[in-house]
Amino acid sequence: MENDSNCGCGTNGSCKGEQNSTCGCTNGSCEGEQKTASSDEGKHPPEMLALNEFSNVKNVIAIMSGKGGVGKSSVTSLLACGFRKKGFEVGVLDADITGPSLPKMFGVKGNPEQVAFGLLPLESSSGIKVMSVNLLMPVEDDPVIWRGPLLGKMVGQFWTDVVWTDLDYLFVDLPPGTGDVPLTVMQSLPLNGLIIVTSPQELAAMIVNKAIKMAKLMDIPILGLVENMSAAVCPKCGEEFQLFGPGHGKEISERFNIPFLGSLPIDPRLSTLCDQGRVEDYESSLFTDFIPQQIRE
Ligand SMILES: Nc1ncnc2c1ncn2[C@@H]1O[C@H](COP(=O)(O)OP(=O)(O)OP(=O)(O)O)[C@@H](O)[C@H]1O
Ligand SMILES: [Mg+2]
Ligand SMILES: [Zn+2]
Repeated sequence: MENDSNCGCGTNGSCKGEQNSTCGCTNGSCEGEQKTASSDEGKHPPEMLALNEFSNVKNVIAIMSGKGGVGKSSVTSLLACGFRKKGFEVGVLDADITGPSLPKMFGVKGNPEQVAFGLLPLESSSGIKVMSVNLLMPVEDDPVIWRGPLLGKMVGQFWTDVVWTDLDYLFVDLPPGTGDVPLTVMQSLPLNGLIIVTSPQELAAMIVNKAIKMAKLMDIPILGLVENMSAAVCPKCGEEFQLFGPGHGKEISERFNIPFLGSLPIDPRLSTLCDQGRVEDYESSLFTDFIPQQIRE
């Protein structure tokens, strides 16, 4: 196999299509095929993973962005909190294996218990189930230094081996961009759809387009777009003001025909609460009225 640079499996040509379960490419067909927006990646037959047999997860929603640091993990946490407050059973799956942040935001610590039928997620103070690679590391701040296929495999195991029990909603916090892990999640988890998070820096560079195009290519519905950090809250009087002028997020939603879910202003209280592991104490009206399409009751 000469063209392994296109495979992305990182095994320097040793995958040869045999190891396709770890390679992350489909059906060993990676040899020489290019994964570009014009490829037929989205048309490969889906290889859905079987959910852990002691779990019943009704709705799965992944949170994506084109670029890092735009607020995916914050939006994932706020979504989870919003749905928990509505009385649903909620879980968060931290698919950002190399940059996990959900345990810190929810203030959960310790190792998940391994039982005969799988791995038990930890629970936040309001009862949100949390699974992240961070919880599995002997030392919390040790780096995970793995190639793409292993990252995808780990995320798959969070679906197959974690005992989520009964969840109405599982929110999946993706790593930034359109790489291996978002691809694995889109191909192997039964997503209701994606929520795209953008920030003004991202909008300016139009990187968000890549994420939107990938979702369309993979035939995954986009449930909505959240605009983060385009406004700020004054720490003195609490008034909200626009930093970059109004309407960018709305403009993008209209251009791509995606529902606009609203804006999240820069609010020092949010970052402080996240740092303290108390994201559940943040009051946000962002997702109060949000009911995703294609809901499974
Ligand atoms: N609206 C906001 N107000 C204040 N701070 C925010 C806001 N959104 C995000 N932040 C802060 O910005 C940082 C990055 O946010 P977050 O981790 O949610 O982004 P991300 O897209 O998940 O990043 P990555 O791509 O690295 O996973 C965090 O420290 C977070 O607390
Ligand atoms: Mg993140
Ligand atoms: Zn003010």
